[in-house]
Amino acid sequence: MAIKSAKFIKSYATIEKMAETQTPEFAFIGRSNVGKSSLINMLTNKSNLAKTSSKPGKTQLINHFEINNVWNLIDLPGYGFAKVHARKKARFSTMILDYLENRRNLYSAFILIDSRLSPQRIDLEFVEWCGIKEVPFQLVFTKSDKMKKTALAENIGLFEAALYKQGWESLPNRFITSSKNRDGKDELVDFIESLIP
Ligand code: GTP
Ligand code: MG
Repeated sequence: MAIKSAKFIKSYATIEKMAETQTPEFAFIGRSNVGKSSLINMLTNKSNLAKTSSKPGKTQLINHFEINNVWNLIDLPGYGFAKVHARKKARFSTMILDYLENRRNLYSAFILIDSRLSPQRIDLEFVEWCGIKEVPFQLVFTKSDKMKKTALAENIGLFEAALYKQGWESLPNRFITSSKNRDGKDELVDFIESLIP
């Protein structure tokens, strides 16, 4: 299945402001600058649906997009970038954690990991938190266009080894994407649509 329509609905500062619904919802989350908004644009074939920036901290609200009039895609602010002001960082993280913990129609979150980096503590802690809170999630390794195949495989292997060390018995699904050369698009869209009843 393809994404035929994608429209921006609204931005919210807190989950309380979002209407309760049973519409299947999927959310993109990850460190600031990892490429969440770019990935949404790539998946929806729109260059500017979600606002992107080379500076971290661009997405500041919970942004709701409606896809094919059937499911929701949520663009969240990023976590943990040193250059984002501390007070803002705390506000983002409350917003994100509240959303993930309490959104009843969240079918799955996608945790985006920068494939250029060796496992980062902040990502591993975030994954661990999702486990404790039973937030369903998958992993997406971004910016694969910047990596040679072997180095990419090495970083993914290290990340997954770190998850086993955390005590996970099985691993979530894993996607490798590039918003630049559009890699991973069909796999991700097909996976999302396979979860929709
Ligand atoms: P925040 O909203 O600040 O949390 O960031 P974000 O995760 O939404 O990142 P965003 O999509 O704004 O992208 C951040 C920067 O990374 C931009 O300069 C993008 O052009 C770049 N970028 C994102 N995805 C890719 C990718 O797949 N490949 C390459 N080469 N650059 C990318
Ligand atoms: Mg963003």
